[in-house]
Amino acid sequence: MTHWEFTDERGTFRLNDPHKTSYLYFPLVNPAGMVSSITPTLHGDTKTGHNAYLTPPASVEDLHTNLYARNFWVSLEGQSPWSAAGNSAPQLAAAYEEDAREQVTLEAGMLWHKITRQSRELGLSSEAVNFVPSGPDRVELMCVKLTNTGEQPQTLTPTATIPIFGRSADNLRDHRHVTSLLHRIQCHENGILVRPSLSFDERGHQVNHLTYAVLGAEGQGAPPVGFFPLVETFAGEGGSLLWPEAVVKSLPPSHRPGQDCEGFEAIGALRFREIVLAPGESRTYILVLAVLDEGEDVQSILSAYASQGKFDHWLEQTQAYWQARIGSLSIRTASEHFDRWMKWVSIQPILRRLLGNSFLPYHDYGRGGRGWRDLWQDILALLLMETSDVGDLLFSNFAGVRFDGSNATIIGSQPGEFKADRNDIPRVWMDHGAWPWLTTRLYIDLSGDLDFLLRKQAYFKDHLIHRSAKRDESWVPEQGTILKTASGGAYRGSVLEHILIQNLVPFFNVGAHNNIRLEGADWNDGMDMGAEGGESVAFSSLYAGNLREISECVRSLERLEITEVEVAEELLWLLDTLGTPVDYSSPEAKQARLAAYFEHCAHTVSGRPARIPLQDLSRDLAAKAEWLSGHIRRQEWLQNKNGHGWFNGYYDNHGRRVEGDHPLGVRMTLSGQVFALMGGVASDPQAQEIIRSARHYLFDPGVGGYRLNTDFGEVVLSLGRAFGFAYGHKENGAMFSHMAVMYAKALYQRGFVHDGYLTLEAIYRASVDFPTSRMYPGIPEYFNPNGRGMYPYLTGSASWYLYTLVTECFGIRGALGDFVLSPKLVKQQFDPDGKAAIRTRFADRAFTVTYHNPAGLDYGEYRIGSMLLNGRPTDTGGDGANAIVPRNTIAALSPSEDHEIEITLEKA
Ligand code: G1P
Repeated sequence: MTHWEFTDERGTFRLNDPHKTSYLYFPLVNPAGMVSSITPTLHGDTKTGHNAYLTPPASVEDLHTNLYARNFWVSLEGQSPWSAAGNSAPQLAAAYEEDAREQVTLEAGMLWHKITRQSRELGLSSEAVNFVPSGPDRVELMCVKLTNTGEQPQTLTPTATIPIFGRSADNLRDHRHVTSLLHRIQCHENGILVRPSLSFDERGHQVNHLTYAVLGAEGQGAPPVGFFPLVETFAGEGGSLLWPEAVVKSLPPSHRPGQDCEGFEAIGALRFREIVLAPGESRTYILVLAVLDEGEDVQSILSAYASQGKFDHWLEQTQAYWQARIGSLSIRTASEHFDRWMKWVSIQPILRRLLGNSFLPYHDYGRGGRGWRDLWQDILALLLMETSDVGDLLFSNFAGVRFDGSNATIIGSQPGEFKADRNDIPRVWMDHGAWPWLTTRLYIDLSGDLDFLLRKQAYFKDHLIHRSAKRDESWVPEQGTILKTASGGAYRGSVLEHILIQNLVPFFNVGAHNNIRLEGADWNDGMDMGAEGGESVAFSSLYAGNLREISECVRSLERLEITEVEVAEELLWLLDTLGTPVDYSSPEAKQARLAAYFEHCAHTVSGRPARIPLQDLSRDLAAKAEWLSGHIRRQEWLQNKNGHGWFNGYYDNHGRRVEGDHPLGVRMTLSGQVFALMGGVASDPQAQEIIRSARHYLFDPGVGGYRLNTDFGEVVLSLGRAFGFAYGHKENGAMFSHMAVMYAKALYQRGFVHDGYLTLEAIYRASVDFPTSRMYPGIPEYFNPNGRGMYPYLTGSASWYLYTLVTECFGIRGALGDFVLSPKLVKQQFDPDGKAAIRTRFADRAFTVTYHNPAGLDYGEYRIGSMLLNGRPTDTGGDGANAIVPRNTIAALSPSEDHEIEITLEKA
């Protein structure tokens, strides 16, 4: 078993025998909306949305069991046919023979995919390059190059085949046959066009406007000589796509350009003319897989892409495009391998933003929608990588907040597009209110844009009120999805007001143990069966931390030379210390107050503002933070019979404490610890004890990382579906990257730098250990019990890994707009010259920050000695742990040039 290896500093990698690993796939996408996945045998699919699959939808098991793959057949005189994709019955059968008859190599980069296949037996090699060009069209390009590596001239005839599904993923099983009757198939000079008459999908029966095209040309431009547009004639009676009659028997094309047919399963099977390849000679073929909307014409697609020159041009453009997207952030540490791996982690948040949680083979559940918490996570990374428009993106997301602190769950593809949930499955995730503050805090720290908090944004409104416990019978869709005032106008409140609502409502929304109710679930989507009596102590801690930070931030608004802010008068119910205080120790009193608030904003709000002094607002929030932290610290800390201590993270639906000793084994969750650390709830001694317990109960030396929970040994129906999963899989006790990274972040935040580093390092090591993880470079959502990296590319853990690396390890932060550098690098991260560097953006300027550690000191041994800004000695302005470059100094630097900051570390 070989490993993949990086071949250049741009993250390009190579893997021998990639076809001998199952479940591998690679994403090919563009912002215009083309999304493909591709495997070493050219399986995978191509689509522009849930209802527009060009090729048959491929879930992960289809990658090695489904016959529908891109293929490129070569018929050779006097020989059996050969597939340049390895997709023929004899080649698949030979794939696990030890003495490989074929050498297969994968090379891939940002974002292109190349498979080279050499048949020693035939003296023939092929190279298949696929990518989705970064331009405005929804196309995937594929170039196949055949080379005669033998000593005799070879006569051969190529047939390219791309199955055409041409409909909604819903029709994969549901009405698959009936929907093939809708197909109108046309043989164009260069290929096959399928334009179904109607589209049968979730929206009903609609007139279809899309054309699905598979077009081809020789590299020099000659079109195919004929076609087999129907699966059944191509495969033949009793035949199969792995050994199709049309190829095996060298049948002449069944159709010529200009011929039409309809009502059958279609395939873009393009026969090219016979050629003779002299020894060493090559010939190329270009395939264009396109989804065309009304008005987009085949001819312009052909002239844009269907030649060798155009293909090469677009490949270069596309590589440059993706390099530019990730280029603003890069690192140089002791490990070049790690630095290159990080490039793949950096592209993940961009993919997540484009794809949501859908459209790659493991992500076979989504329909293209984005998740609420994922929206905010993506922005964490984008704030560190991209420039200008991220603030606006952040702002537009606040339009999804409901006045009861919950949020719209159907999120459109355009920024700020939120829809009423037609499925009418009212579900509220109790953690959703917590994430926007984390992202907003980062934005404000980096930008200093405190005014952002005062910008006015609308609220989302639909039929769901009281956090989906009730319906607003007075609301009808015609009223629109924007909250109105009693007089009928759209209501807009400050971003700060949105954040307050999101964090104050949960404070009052407590269960019998006075922790915040679990509702539909928390971050762990699998904790979904505790809606009545369940409580999430884990996320109560995060809210406690938020309330404290928001309280501090409110005070800093004085910098804007204001002394008070305006909020909707309804909020006074929740800012209780400003009026009639609520007894926080009484869950009933809290719920009663919340009910009063909900009653006052059920259908509309008054539109009347209340002016609140900053000091009073800050004090109210601080009091709540203090109370909640103290409550959790006292009530939820547990000590088990083995003398280990940690925080209980949950109460189940019957109101029973979940964690601690149990007849079926000790129960502990990582989430319960992460936010107690992060939210400042855990005291320092508690933090140390948590680390010890987590190492004892959750660290798995086999996987090399922290598991999400211990084995509860039963399906816990009172907590959630997660426990229906076999133990060690996904949300039931896998090493779940996102929570493991958040644990690392929490450890760094609390000063346990070496523990944090080891946690991050463990995830990296597990990811790149190809013989076990069997995934390409990047971070997976989780590792299964065999250590396989699952659900690669689309995971929030990538954003958090990047965020932790940049803001904690390299300590690149802002403090209300000032540039703060506060390194927490450990000795191993410095290169042999004692240097560690990061290229990043701050205040719309590009910086390279280099930390010099000439004495080879470890974290804890060094302090910041001196600083050079563009070569000039500059006051570090900090306390040894950090250096501060004031905003006005940064603002005076040219935005178009690259700037250098060099910091020398000295013995503390
Ligand atoms: C996924 C979901 C995320 C959720 C998590 C745990 O994680 O996308 O929203 O919180 O599972 O249930 P991810 O794919 O981001 O790693």
